[in-house]
Amino acid sequence: MTALDDGTVDADAYRHVMGRLAKGVAVVTTTAFGHDHALTADSVTSVSLDPVLLLICVDTDARFHDAVLESRVFGVSVLAASQRGLAAWFATPGRPVPGQMDRAPHTRAVTGVPLLTGALATVECSVRDVHPAGDHSIIVAAVDRFSLGGDPGAALVHFRGQYSTLP
Ligand SMILES: Cc1cc2nc3c(=O)[nH]c(=O)nc-3n(C[C@H](O)[C@H](O)[C@H](O)COP(=O)(O)O)c2cc1C
Repeated sequence: MTALDDGTVDADAYRHVMGRLAKGVAVVTTTAFGHDHALTADSVTSVSLDPVLLLICVDTDARFHDAVLESRVFGVSVLAASQRGLAAWFATPGRPVPGQMDRAPHTRAVTGVPLLTGALATVECSVRDVHPAGDHSIIVAAVDRFSLGGDPGAALVHFRGQYSTLP
């Protein structure tokens, strides 16, 4: 099935289709309104090398959304296979914002945003453009700094609605 009778596409069916595109998993982080904010995200995409840009797509209802528009800076922590629990935690609706980082060992970037310890890689970003896109915003950001994690272990991936690891 590709479309409903009225010509629109069924959003749930579409989610299943896109679930077949295996993706790496990251946690994006920022600090605003007196708290750390974080969100599990698989929409992190490299955009450009000159200048170096990446994008994330963020649900306008996510608490991270307004926080990152306020702070204009964020961190990306690319999750290792061993960080599956953190991926689940930062995708849990209703988790308390104050103290949500307590179970995630982290350091601070120079901008103050948290970067998860044990990530495969971390990237520090400054918001450059925000494009409204349906119920999400496409946030295009300049890459200010990045770091490779010390342990080049297996990656956490999301495929067909489930976490898996690679290799
Ligand atoms: C594997 C995975 C990837 C996700 N990717 C995104 C994403 O790219 N953008 C987004 O806005 N939400 C994404 N989500 C959903 C958010 O992590 C989730 O809705 C989160 O609870 C929102 O934060 P909040 O509860 O503080 O509003 C993803 C969830 C999972 C499990």
